[in-house]
Amino acid sequence: MELTAWPGVWREGRALYTRNAEPGRRVYGESLRVADGTEYREWDPFRSKLAALLAKGAPASVLAPPNSALYLGASHGTTASHLSDLWPTARLFLVEKSPTSFAPLLALARRRSNLLPILADAQLPERYLADVGEVDLLYQDVAQRDQARIFVDNAAAALAEDGRGILMLKVRSVTQRRPAAVVAREARRELADGGLRVEAEVPLAPFSREHIALVVRR
Ligand SMILES: C[S@@+](CC[C@H](N)C(=O)[O-])C[C@H]1O[C@@H](n2cnc3c(N)ncnc32)[C@H](O)[C@@H]1O
Repeated sequence: MELTAWPGVWREGRALYTRNAEPGRRVYGESLRVADGTEYREWDPFRSKLAALLAKGAPASVLAPPNSALYLGASHGTTASHLSDLWPTARLFLVEKSPTSFAPLLALARRRSNLLPILADAQLPERYLADVGEVDLLYQDVAQRDQARIFVDNAAAALAEDGRGILMLKVRSVTQRRPAAVVAREARRELADGGLRVEAEVPLAPFSREHIALVVRR
């Protein structure tokens, strides 16, 4: 097991791992591995778009530990659980609108004190803004037609002046017809109009063929 350039991420062969904050427990059926008395959880790029972004060669700055983060579309907590492993002292606010997905997310958060789940619609940031306050990192993975607008609205509401973000853009939720490159260009324009600069645009194929990661800064 060797430490990678991404803080807190380990590698064995091509497989990526984080240190398991709950030794002996799996979150989504991932492999567990013990090395030198420490237990690690495999971070599967086919299950987590953030792991896919790393596997596609994201810079180390993508995983710079924030003090606080706002995560839109946390679902059952697959990716959030790895962020919880990585950033034990950060406050990670997890917004999820589906009550069915929220139940397992809540169970996960009861065992991991850095996860703070919120049952809410990311289209209405005013509903949770008072709880969240200002964050250093905005992460979004919601399969919605107006993904870029949701990201811009949440950045305007909660992202610090020197904050950063990652938008996992699901092209086919925006349109079934227009080419991915055009959809990405439109999203980038919307982000720019919202005061966000795109530093990297990374298609997540072969791990997730429908997604493009946009790494942004204010
Ligand atoms: C692809 S899943 C997210 C997977 C998760 N990010 C992970 O990597 O573990 C998308 C999630 O976004 C949620 N979602 C979609 N629209 C939303 C909205 N407007 N507000 C909050 N959550 C939303 C869905 O309920 C679903 O759980």
